Amino acid sequence: MDLEYVKQVGIGAAFKSGKILLSYLGNLSSIEKKGTIDLVTKADIESEKAIVDIINYRFPDHSILAEESGMSYSNPDFKWIIDPLDGTTNFAYNLGVFAVSIAFELKGEIVVGVVLNPCTGELFTAIKEQGAHLNSHPINVSAHKTVSDSLLVTGFPYNFTDNFTDIMTRFENCLKASMGVRRLGSAALDLCFVACGRFTGFWEQNLNPWDTAAGVLIAHEAGAHITDFSNNPFDINKKEILTTNHKIHKEMINLLKIG
Ligand code: IPD
Ligand code: CA
Ligand code: CA
Repeated sequence: MDLEYVKQVGIGAAFKSGKILLSYLGNLSSIEKKGTIDLVTKADIESEKAIVDIINYRFPDHSILAEESGMSYSNPDFKWIIDPLDGTTNFAYNLGVFAVSIAFELKGEIVVGVVLNPCTGELFTAIKEQGAHLNSHPINVSAHKTVSDSLLVTGFPYNFTDNFTDIMTRFENCLKASMGVRRLGSAALDLCFVACGRFTGFWEQNLNPWDTAAGVLIAHEAGAHITDFSNNPFDINKKEILTTNHKIHKEMINLLKIG
């Protein structure tokens, strides 16, 4: 299969969707709620439709998992995983930290990832075993050897009250041990920022496959190590993710331990 072509289709869809998102930024007439603090906007829906239409046109027999419309089943060997707007809360508050995330899975393995921040024009891409790129330049994880030298990033799930104590304990441990912890509000960008060395580590719990599918390939291809909090291999259906530059992984596993 021509993965370069698949990537180009993903990039085209991401830019089309990015244009739609920008047309709504600061210009939303209504915002709906999926949960108490889980928002969905017209921009999410239209952005997703634009991506799905492009994929269906180019690859009519491919399956698609998209956040807002769910799963559309076709050939199971070819599956696209889409978050049309990762960072909806930021978007709804006119904060330019959000992304379009598009991944392609071939026979159960993610082989192409595309993440675009429409506000900055930063485009992160990866093809399996071909490295990761930011605006066509190769990127790599940071070289920091210790957590104390590292800037970290995390996120809080919408249902954070269900796990509040564990989430806060992990946050406190990492904050005390590191150079600082940021909470940007877009898991796809968090992963890409580990990939290009801005952050040395990222952890979060309760993410969904569309939040991480593209970003984990980009991070992996940039040299990141990705596991759950118990150091078991990560897959996009798992509810815990720890992504680091390898060098601080063991230290982070210890900081994320509860009890
Ligand atoms: C959210 C973002 C956020 C993370 C949430 C996700 P959405 O995605 O990735 O950083 O903390 O858990 O649900 O809802 O904006 O697509
Ligand atoms: Ca998301
Ligand atoms: Ca989303």
